Amino acid sequence: MLQIGPHLIHSPLVLAPMAGVADLPFRRLCRRFGAGMAASEMLTADTRQWASQKSRFRLPVRDEAEPRVVQIAGAEPQQLAEAAQRSADLGAQIIDINMGCPAKKVCKRAAGSALLREEALVAEILQTVVKAVTIPVTLKIRTGWDTQSRNALIIARLAEDAGIQALAIHGRTRACLFRGAAEYDTIAEVVAGVSIPVIANGDITSPQQAQAVLAYTGAAALMIGRAAQGQPWLFRQINNFLRGEPQFVPTRLEITALILEHLGALHAYYGEELGLRIARKHVGWYLDNLGFQRSHRKAFNHLLDTAQQLEFIGELLLTTNNNNQGIAA
Ligand SMILES: Cc1cc2nc3c(=O)[nH]c(=O)nc-3n(C[C@H](O)[C@H](O)[C@H](O)COP(=O)(O)O)c2cc1C
Repeated sequence: MLQIGPHLIHSPLVLAPMAGVADLPFRRLCRRFGAGMAASEMLTADTRQWASQKSRFRLPVRDEAEPRVVQIAGAEPQQLAEAAQRSADLGAQIIDINMGCPAKKVCKRAAGSALLREEALVAEILQTVVKAVTIPVTLKIRTGWDTQSRNALIIARLAEDAGIQALAIHGRTRACLFRGAAEYDTIAEVVAGVSIPVIANGDITSPQQAQAVLAYTGAAALMIGRAAQGQPWLFRQINNFLRGEPQFVPTRLEITALILEHLGALHAYYGEELGLRIARKHVGWYLDNLGFQRSHRKAFNHLLDTAQQLEFIGELLLTTNNNNQGIAA
């Protein structure tokens, strides 16, 4: 069982931090379907920006299921330490440091995965943040900067020495961005080379693959990102498969109720204007997974108030028989 500091995580599956996707409403759904942990979307370590609308929605809230994980990104040890302290004060129970993000905006400031090239700075950041807080600190990385410099094992050892309590590894280098397939050899090497729990990440999309990646890498847990978009029930499907329990196949009625609940939660969390926009993204994924045509997605995107969005989904899902495509894992 995955243990991070005092937190026993009862599922080997965690939701990946995803800016613009893994917000509080989505994390709640994934936790309900069996994700054992779900990190917040990346929060800048520059606390002067926390009053911005973007950051406010990413701050910890105390009524989220435990353990509450806040992910921070930055490049300056003191700034990251202060952000970690402030997050803990606001209710975070685990601080996750992002050294896996390849986004240009983040790398330009030598944060995210750009840090992987600067091992001394990585060590300084990790030591400073771990010392600054009393709650566990975890780290998320890629396998390296590029395929010639896959230094995940070096970084993992630095992390272990600094007191990092778990390490998530996305099986791609920074240079890979999201191209090609994730590789799990480097992850397996890291699992063998450190004694802290390692969480394997990248391209895990089905129960069978989840089982294969766990077996191949020996990782303590798996982190799932894009595959959960539009099907948060994937966590239950994978957990059931791993435990040898019957396959979980949600009915059309259950899915409809879930999407309506998700929309309601987005509208309430973000307010009408922003909630409407963010709902479009999630509904697009749900409809894709359910095998609906793009025209339905387009029609949904033209709706201009929350009541219309709810009505549209209710009618479309309960009156259209498209054979429930995409529901079964
Ligand atoms: C839309 C999107 C946003 C992401 N945002 C973050 C982020 O804020 N922090 C982070 O560490 N990784 C972020 N990632 C990377 C994911 O956490 C994960 O490592 C990656 O998607 C690979 O896992 P997957 O194949 O299961 O999606 C993001 C990925 C996507 C697709």
